[in-house]
Amino acid sequence: MSAMFIGTRGYEQGTNRVQHARAINVSDFFITGTGTDIGKTWVTCALLRHWRATGRRARAFKPVLSGFDPMTAEASDAGQLLTAMGRTLDAAALDEIAPWRFAAPLSPDMAAAREGRSIDFDALVELTWRCRSAQRHASTSALHPFEKCSTLIEGVGGVMVPLDAQHTVRDWIAASGLPCILVAGSYLGSLSHTLTALEALQKVGVGVTAIVVNESIASSVSLDETMATLRDHVGGVALVAIARAAPSSGVAALDFLLG
Ligand SMILES: Nc1ncnc2c1ncn2[C@@H]1O[C@H](COP(=O)(O)OP(=O)(O)OP(=O)(O)O)[C@@H](O)[C@H]1O
Ligand SMILES: [Mg+2]
Repeated sequence: MSAMFIGTRGYEQGTNRVQHARAINVSDFFITGTGTDIGKTWVTCALLRHWRATGRRARAFKPVLSGFDPMTAEASDAGQLLTAMGRTLDAAALDEIAPWRFAAPLSPDMAAAREGRSIDFDALVELTWRCRSAQRHASTSALHPFEKCSTLIEGVGGVMVPLDAQHTVRDWIAASGLPCILVAGSYLGSLSHTLTALEALQKVGVGVTAIVVNESIASSVSLDETMATLRDHVGGVALVAIARAAPSSGVAALDFLLG
């Protein structure tokens, strides 16, 4: 099995702000994950490439990026996103899609503190809203009425990673008003991590459009078993499996689900 769906529950758990945001543009998503290195950038790049190949317009942002080394910028999350968008990697593009860059490969609050800096949460939320409206304004005049246009915002680390002493990534997602895609794995222990992250998001009214189960390598648990067990516990949230052996069908399934 490379991809499967379980029925969507919709957004009835969302706050008014989330529902309002959906009414503006249903094609913008926040890409979060159960933890670091789970595959957020991989999934975002795969969607961008799939959409480019099928003629859909999309942009992606990685506003907060820790572990950034200018000497290897191309391999950074921002570099990968720019490549997947078919854009040139230069200082202006980096500043545009990843304005909060930190050298230390640590949680954002710690990485910022190492440089005597901090993340201005309100400015981060403001930027997230601007990313979306800039995309819309740049595109709507040239768009066919039925043409799709999407903005993807990649988070940092997992759902509950601190951004500063008061805020976590979950607060950022909630304030952004975006529905999210939760990237998870299939390693031993992933079930609890996935269900915990899902509950944390739903508790504050964030709509979870899909859980992407990105197959973990060298796992003692199969992807099929992980999907089957999750299905019993996610309350109807859509599940999409990305199998290492056949990733493209999982990406196509995710595209279909996102509409
Ligand atoms: N389905 C996949 N197929 C092949 N490689 C993958 C897949 N998913 C993830 N990887 C690889 O695993 C590593 C971690 O993935 P990725 O960088 O996307 O994680 P992340 O969640 O974005 O991490 P971060 O928290 O640093 O942003 C990368 O080298 C990536 O290329
Ligand atoms: Mg990443």
